[in-house]
Amino acid sequence: TVEVYSEKQQIKKVLGAFKDQNFTLGMVPTMGALHKGHLALVERALQENDKVVVSIFVNPTQFDNKADLQNYPRTLEQDVALLKGVSKDRILVYAPTVEDVYEGRLQAEHFDYDGLEFEMEGRFRDGHFDGVGTIVKRLFEIVKPNNAYFGEKDFQQLQIVKKLVEKFHIPVNIVGCDIYREDSGLAMSSRNTRLKKEYLEAAPFIYKTLTAAKTYFGTKSAKEVTQWVENEFKKQELLELEYFIIADVITLKTLTEKENNKQYRAFIAVYADDIRLIDNIALN
Ligand code: PAJ
Repeated sequence: TVEVYSEKQQIKKVLGAFKDQNFTLGMVPTMGALHKGHLALVERALQENDKVVVSIFVNPTQFDNKADLQNYPRTLEQDVALLKGVSKDRILVYAPTVEDVYEGRLQAEHFDYDGLEFEMEGRFRDGHFDGVGTIVKRLFEIVKPNNAYFGEKDFQQLQIVKKLVEKFHIPVNIVGCDIYREDSGLAMSSRNTRLKKEYLEAAPFIYKTLTAAKTYFGTKSAKEVTQWVENEFKKQELLELEYFIIADVITLKTLTEKENNKQYRAFIAVYADDIRLIDNIALN
């Protein structure tokens, strides 16, 4: 069965026993409302480790929007049932309370990620990456995984977590995993379950536009591609573009002039109703 731990002392004890047996430990940090994208990370972690800890915790300090935090789906029982379907005896769930993690001081630490935090999501979500860094660092201290798995769906988060472990010399290997999509192309997200039918039908336009942008990027400048995308979204009544940015995958800085030996990605954030959706695509 899949054991669920809500207190760090309990799970630390079990994990200590694993360490004594030289088990390798994988970790998949999540906020729950698990979907196939999360499960793909869990499956990858199971392939590469003896045991896998899935943490399920809606982290208050990374939300800059109270309503988003309140409305975030919480489906622990269903999540555990899904994980049981993936493995009956190699997964542990750590689903702590706010108190267990924050110990009476619900506050984020401040982090310097060498500027990664000032781009894209960092510009539009105040304090978001301080909250992410705070929780991920604590989870790593509690679980001490050998490998931890993060989705490219949140590409900036993945780069920030890599920077975090480098800066604090945390002995964990960070593994980035492909974006898992619906057949429609829409990137899977826990927030998708909140989309009303008409918005759910409109949302695949996001990925459709990203793939077209990738094609245009072969022959057009970043500025031309960006203007084309912005214009496409003006014609969409149900979707409101927050940003479309083409950036260097290492620095995350907006591309001004293409350089031959560099990798670029297009990043997008869109509002569908009051629900914020993000996606990205590799361009070269
Ligand atoms: P959450 O949004 O639940 O995502 C957990 C992990 O699943 C992240 O690494 C995310 O990138 C990955 N993921 C989500 N949707 C995906 C998809 N469609 N394809 C591939 N991977 C996907 O990200 C967080 O939680 C939190 O910020 C967290 C890291 C847990 C810190 O609180």
